[in-house]
Amino acid sequence: MDKIVIKGGQALHGEVQASGAKNAALPILASALLADGTSTYRNVPALADVATMLKVLRTMGCDAERDSEETDVCRVGVNGHITPEAPYDLVKTMRASVLVLGPLVARFGRARVSMPGGCAIGARPIDQHLKGLKALGADIHLTEGYVEATAKQLKGGTVNFDVITVTGTENVMMAAVLAKGRTLMENCAREPEVEELAKVLNKMGARIEGAGTSSITIEGVDGLKPVEHAILPDRIEAGTLLVAAAISGGDVLVKRVVPEHMDALVEKLREAGCTITTEGSGLRCKAPQRLDAVNITTTEHPGFPTDMQAQLMALMSVSQGTSVISENIFENRFMHVPELHRLGADITIQGPTAVVKGVKGLSGAPVMATDLRASASLILAGLRAEGRTDVSRVYHLDRGYERLERKLSALGADIRREKA
Ligand code: EPU
Repeated sequence: MDKIVIKGGQALHGEVQASGAKNAALPILASALLADGTSTYRNVPALADVATMLKVLRTMGCDAERDSEETDVCRVGVNGHITPEAPYDLVKTMRASVLVLGPLVARFGRARVSMPGGCAIGARPIDQHLKGLKALGADIHLTEGYVEATAKQLKGGTVNFDVITVTGTENVMMAAVLAKGRTLMENCAREPEVEELAKVLNKMGARIEGAGTSSITIEGVDGLKPVEHAILPDRIEAGTLLVAAAISGGDVLVKRVVPEHMDALVEKLREAGCTITTEGSGLRCKAPQRLDAVNITTTEHPGFPTDMQAQLMALMSVSQGTSVISENIFENRFMHVPELHRLGADITIQGPTAVVKGVKGLSGAPVMATDLRASASLILAGLRAEGRTDVSRVYHLDRGYERLERKLSALGADIRREKA
């Protein structure tokens, strides 16, 4: 198993480009099921999770591949017979596989998808996905660990989500585009990735209005056509690179981002003492040696994203003062804390809140990644720590970052991947 080895202490300088967004690519790849023919997607990040989604689609009988020459291009062909089933073996490795549920039941009238279990960051039920599909007329049964959904023809309906859910909003939206009549969805997730999926579906011929707000209206259509689309930049990867600049006291331009998708993070970095400037579609972060502590509360978009909480905690662990970080989206997303302790951080957890007392310096140590964003947090801390930090269980990192160590190394970090 690979590990990442970092020798801390280098200030990062230079320019780096964000890759395509994982959390937009996954639902968009699943949406290809909604039309016959081949859809082509560009700027698709080369990530383990994307490979898993392609595999899920292939298992069903789609022709889903990454281009061998144009490596940011993926094609999904839906021609002929589809087995509308996502098996346990794949869903257990990536819960976002559940995103095929809505398209399958809408298009093929039947879906059998393994129930995702809990995961490292929380219980993560899918009751809201199922509630939405039921409101559109799907029959739902849970048997032998699988969700079985059937509907001869979905019908438009009203869905009022009890909890704001990103993939739940996406799943129900993908089902409603082929339902008969109008669907009104309330209390929807407003993440840019939801808006991006709606943009793709509308290009395919769907009639969706309001995506990016909490009320989405969908007029069902009889059929959709395949699409060609370039995926938007990954705001979380871009944010992680900005924090890398900040924690190292560097000066880095992250190119090809959508700055307005990153307002909450930029506001916090500025409050902490970074100078953040917009340069075209890029964001530059220039940081002093030591930042001020800031408080963070994660909420749904446009609030501070839970997917940046672990990275900000690494930054706060070496800031001046005490930072209070509250995690409101997932109940168990502090798994990085004991590992940050190993590097010398002073963090106390009180329920959903972490109190981070900034220390002057961290010292390198072997640590273990426990989930995707935790692994990014440990690498960031390693950039600042004195001496050598080895981050093991790097497969978590590879699920959501396209060769992060190469991007950081090009900015001057002393970082490499080693076969353990
Ligand atoms: N929830 C329910 N019932 C549901 C659905 C969600 O109670 O039916 C709860 C969850 O347990 C959680 C909260 O609602 O407490 C929000 O979960 P949400 O459904 O929004 O999360 P998700 O759709 O499973 C996506 C991202 C996550 C990101 C969250 C929150 C994808 C593929 N995943 O997950 O990304 O953290 O939204 O923004 O889009 C990551 O990239 O590292 C990652 C975990």
